[in-house]
Amino acid sequence: MDVLLVKEAEIRRSVSIEEAISAVEAGFTRLAAGEVNLPPVLSLDMPEVKGEVHVKGAHIHGAGSLAIKVATGFYDNPSLGLPSGTGMMMVFSSQTGFPQALLFDNGYLTDVRTAAAGAVAAKYLAREDVPVVGVVGAGAQGRIQIMALAKVRKFEKVLAYDLDKTRLASYVEEMPEIIGVDCQAAQDIESVVRASDLLVTATPSTKPFVRAEWLHSGLHITAMGSDAPYKQELESEVLSRADLIVCDHKGQCSERGELHHALEEGTVGEDHSIVELGDLTSGRHPGRTDESQITVCDLTGVGVQDAAIATLAYEKAVQGGFGSTLQL
Ligand SMILES: NC(=O)c1ccc[n+]([C@@H]2O[C@H](COP(=O)([O-])OP(=O)(O)OC[C@H]3O[C@@H](n4cnc5c(N)ncnc54)[C@H](O)[C@@H]3O)[C@@H](O)[C@H]2O)c1
Repeated sequence: MDVLLVKEAEIRRSVSIEEAISAVEAGFTRLAAGEVNLPPVLSLDMPEVKGEVHVKGAHIHGAGSLAIKVATGFYDNPSLGLPSGTGMMMVFSSQTGFPQALLFDNGYLTDVRTAAAGAVAAKYLAREDVPVVGVVGAGAQGRIQIMALAKVRKFEKVLAYDLDKTRLASYVEEMPEIIGVDCQAAQDIESVVRASDLLVTATPSTKPFVRAEWLHSGLHITAMGSDAPYKQELESEVLSRADLIVCDHKGQCSERGELHHALEEGTVGEDHSIVELGDLTSGRHPGRTDESQITVCDLTGVGVQDAAIATLAYEKAVQGGFGSTLQL
């Protein structure tokens, strides 16, 4: 039996953000149609080292492969000169269960599939015209979310904030070259929220930092940092003030996203109408219908995104002759 081993550099060369957006969008549509086997998330928390491990995966009906992904986030890593997140993906035959490939992506595929979900959210929820984009959290996601956003919306300026001033300075220095858009550092989060037409929150914060009183007509927020029950970026009143709340997966967001806190605090009732990303991508829900609406998308990261991106990376490696073969 042969197992394909594919390295990060080969994966980066072969899987583009554009292809990731298409694959992830199609995955959400299949999920909405009930055509995905989606197991619950397995989490291993290591608070003593500010670390966490998430295992996610899925099988999209009819696909020749299923995928299981292990992603880690150890948030003191940057002080060691390492990125916070890494991981790998495993691809198995959906006919026999035997392994087909190990994708040593070092977290790249998780980063790109998450950014793809942010772009899909913006496509259906942001106004066509979003001159100023705000980012809170100038780390890995703060970068790639904006790179993916640039594939679906044009914008003139990025306004960024991070608690860590060194990281913020590198962000505003490096990003203009990557996305070709002016990028400025903000003094505080309030000024970012008030000035933005579209806001991305991308931190592992455990305390909410976006206040409902700062929201304004037409704003879209993608909150993607909270993927564990103890994380929160938006005050729960932000969700109750929104005209439309969209989740990548309602069940997951009720347990580990912004929705979880809003339900727990009672600012959003159990009977509140919550739309899923797949409802938008499948055309069941129109998304934003009015320039003045305030929309919020809560992303916790769904196994179907991992199955979609891992399958894409595996197919690209096979087609392109990348990777090395391990004979078992
Ligand atoms: N929803 C998903 O599918 C998904 C996928 C990947 C990562 N995540 C989550 O996204 C978050 C960010 O991940 P990352 O890989 O970009 O991490 P990162 O460590 O690369 O970047 C996080 C940045 O946020 C900053 N920060 C932390 N708290 C802050 C605060 N209160 N205000 C402003 N800035 C703050 C840090 O200084 C850092 O620069 C994590 O919680 C991670 O678990 C979610």
